[in-house]
Formats: sequence, structure tokens, C-alpha cells
Amino acid sequence: MPSKKTSVSGVKEKIGSLRNQINYHNYRYYILDSPEISDSEYDRLMRELLQLEKEHPELITADSPTQRVGAPIQTTFKTIEHSLMMLSLENAMHYDEFKEWYEGFEESPEVICEPKIDGTAVELVYKNGVFVSGSTRGDGKTGEDITLNLKTIKSIPLRLIDKFVSIPEYLEVRGEVFLPKEAFNQLNRQRIKQGEEPFANPRNAAAGSLRQLDSKITASRPLDILIHGFGLIRGTKFKTHSEAIEHFRQLGLKTTTPYAVSSLQQTQEYFNQMHNTRNNLPYEIDGIVVKVNDLRTQERLGLRARSPRWAIAYKFPAQEATTQLIDIALQVGRTGTITPVAILKPVSVSGVEISRATLHNADEIQRLDLKIGDSVALKRAGDVIPKIIKPIISKRTGSEKPFSMPQTCPACKSYLVKEETELAYRCPNNSCPAQVKGWIEHFAKREAMNIEGLGDKLIARLVDKKIIQDPADLYTLQKDVLLKLERMGDKLAHNILDAIARSKETTL
Ligand code: IVH
Repeated sequence: MPSKKTSVSGVKEKIGSLRNQINYHNYRYYILDSPEISDSEYDRLMRELLQLEKEHPELITADSPTQRVGAPIQTTFKTIEHSLMMLSLENAMHYDEFKEWYEGFEESPEVICEPKIDGTAVELVYKNGVFVSGSTRGDGKTGEDITLNLKTIKSIPLRLIDKFVSIPEYLEVRGEVFLPKEAFNQLNRQRIKQGEEPFANPRNAAAGSLRQLDSKITASRPLDILIHGFGLIRGTKFKTHSEAIEHFRQLGLKTTTPYAVSSLQQTQEYFNQMHNTRNNLPYEIDGIVVKVNDLRTQERLGLRARSPRWAIAYKFPAQEATTQLIDIALQVGRTGTITPVAILKPVSVSGVEISRATLHNADEIQRLDLKIGDSVALKRAGDVIPKIIKPIISKRTGSEKPFSMPQTCPACKSYLVKEETELAYRCPNNSCPAQVKGWIEHFAKREAMNIEGLGDKLIARLVDKKIIQDPADLYTLQKDVLLKLERMGDKLAHNILDAIARSKETTL
């Protein structure tokens, strides 16, 4: 495209028009779920904008739709202080607890019911309609600055729509970032295949994805958001929660769907309805949130220590399923602790596929009287890794096999030891390859030396081939030794050695 012939103001106008079109089609696709154009037409608009921005880099702005990915890797997250405390919610675990909360008011207030999304809380700041920063909840007072990662989420508009309602000059909205069930299951399958620990639940997966220093990793996870509240707002006033949420929706934000009711019975009907249909939702919910709708009443009710009196999380009962215990594997930790892990026939517990459960220690297996081959009852309670509650004795066929703790370490065959005061068995051999792998994995982790590219699989190969025996050996690794490994190219070897060298500069 010979854009050189066009005048600079013409280019500026063209760029503005392309951005508007792309923003509009993003909105149709990611917020309304109702695209107007084909993917290839969308790609064409994006390519045209990219080309013009390449020719005129001085016209690139932070809110351009081209600026969602490709930010440089960060070394740490800065912190952001929340203007208003980001609070937590009190839980009602049963109807009685919920009833007590609802009937604690002088007269039945109008309340808003919303699904309680199993994700991680974030705050987004818009100045004059432009997304300027975003943070995690952190300790409620200060969170981490995850702006670059949030920008990769397509359902977060970089610019608000001013067509339907007025844009507040300063706006803090709060919501839940989550990973849809299908993406969560797929991510975990991939992690298990790569020898990595699967995420325990969608919430951890979302939080982990948002806390990446390399926003390209965040961009590769199909995160989504639902806005369910706000912090400080300047330039617009609202009377009710539902009015505020509706305003946000009109600004092009993706919001929850508030459902207003005015009696205990209606709230319970909503609860039952959500409980019965939760499996049809593309994301995980673990209850409902009920909020007093009137904002002045909210203010009057005030706060408990860490949660407002005007809202409560009314949780669904724990989810249970039955499946078969295929085997019990033994995991050797970095300090030699042996943890039995239940290998299960994969089963879906409200949309999340479960194939492993921790058994803690050998005593737990005894206590439960578990046999390999048993049908077992599983429980997944919100954020907890699934637990085996019990074997279903009536389903035994006689072919089940008792589990006995081996005397030797599955990795190095050393005799296991058990102190009388401890529940766990331990492998006493400090050079046990499983321990060494765990030790080096721990050392290479982001929270420690942050050696990128040195994944668990590669560590296992290096230890198995006796190329490295402790973390210090990493620093004498030679390229020609690496290149002898299968599936190791020049570029990859270079990057790994580079990351190892860079880790020397890491401050702990
Ligand atoms: S309102 C004052 N609405 O649940 C706190 N929270 O367990 C206002 N959550 O920290 C929160 N869905 O991260 C609200 N529809 C919803 C929610 C929701 C999920 C999260 C939120 C909160 C946590 C408390």
C-alpha cells in the first residue's frame, strides 16, 4: 500500500478509523458474542493497521488494538495502591446461614443476585475512557501491577464506548478474571504431558496466568473477565449497584448479569436455578453472591473486618463424584518425602476433569481402607485439590488389590525411613535422582533463580544422564554437552545457557 503518498493527517485519520473499526468488532466478538465480520476480514483490518503503524511508529498509542501483545518481559511487578480497599466476602455455607444474613436487616432489602465466579479478583482503571492500569487484589490495600498481562485479555476494552452513556472521567471497575472450563482442562492436560504440576482449580490457573512476567504466556491462555463491581469513580454517580453495572455494560465492559429480587424465597429460587444449571456455563461457579442493591444502604451498613455487611457469598455444597482408583503412584519430593498420589479414571466434576488426587501419606490409605481398583467417592470443595472420601465397599468385586508401602524408594531403591513422630516415609539418599530433580526444579523456578527454558522435563534428562547432580553443575554446563541431547537445537541450547548465565544476577 503506497501510503507515503497520503498526507500525515490522512494517515492519522485512517489509523483512527481502523482502530475504531477493530475496537467495534472486538466488542461484537468478545463482549456480545455476535461477530459481524469474518475472521479473515478482521485480520485484514488488523494487518492494515499494523502496516501503517510500522510506517508511522510515532502514531502508535498505548490503547491501540495492536498493543495487546508483544510487551517486553518484566523482571518484577510494581505495586499499585487501591484507592478503596478491595474486600473479601463472608461465606454462607448453608441456607440457614444465608437466611440469618438476609433476615438480619430491619426490612427485606432489594438484593442483587449474581453468580460467584471461580476466578481471581482484579481492578481496572480507566482515565477518560482509556485503560491505564490494572492490578490484583493483593492484600486488599495494595496489589500487583499486572497492566501488561490484562491488556492481552480481549474482553478487556482498551478504550470504552462513548456512544450510549457518558464516560466517567475516572473509573475503577472490579471483576473476576477466569479461565473457561474447557481451556482449563486443556491447559492441565498439556501441563501433565510436559511433566508439570496441573493447576488445582480454574482460580489458581487464572491467578497463575496473570502473574506471568512474560505477557506472551498470559496471551496464550484464553482468559476472560466479568465485571461485578467498582472502586473509586469520578464524574458519574450511581444510585444502585445494578444501575452501575448496566452503565458499565453500555460502556462496552463485559459484566455479570445482576438479577434483582426482594425476598428470601426469590433468592433461594435463583440459588437453586444456578445450582442446577452451573454445568451449562462455560466457566466454573462455586455459589452465588447476594448484594444489597441500594448504594446508600450499602454505605450505611458498612463493613466487618475484611468484608462488607451488605454482601455475602452463598456457596454451593461441595461437589462429589465417583470413579475408579486405577493405581497409587509414589511421588518423591525434593526433601525425600514420599507422597502417595491416587491415579484415577478421569471423571468430570462439574466441568473440571479430575484424574489425580493426593493421598497425603500411607496412613491415610490405611485409614480409608483403600484398595487399588476400588470405586471411590471423590469430593472437590471449591479451592481444594480433590480428595478421596471413601471407597465404595458395596462395589467391590474381589479383584481389588491392597496397597502396601514399598520398602525402597521408587527412584533410587534406597531403603525408606520413617521417624516415629512423622507420618511420611522418606528416602534418606541425598543423591536420589528424584530428590535431585526436585531440588534443581525448585532452584530453577521463577520464585527462585528464574531460569527460563529449564523445565522439569529437561532437568530430568540432564539428571538421568548424570550431566548434572546439583544446582551448581548448571553453571559449568557446556553447549556441546547440551547439543548431544535429543530434540536439542543450537538456538534452544543457546537460550538455556543464556538464561542460566542471567540467573547469576538474580537477587533473591
Ligand atoms: S463482589 C466486597 N461479585 O469472590 C467484595 N465478588 O470470595 C465484593 N467473586 O473477592 C466482591 N464472583 O473476587 C463479587 N459476582 C461476584 C463475584 C465475586 C466472584 C469473588 C471476588 C471476591 C471473592 C470473595
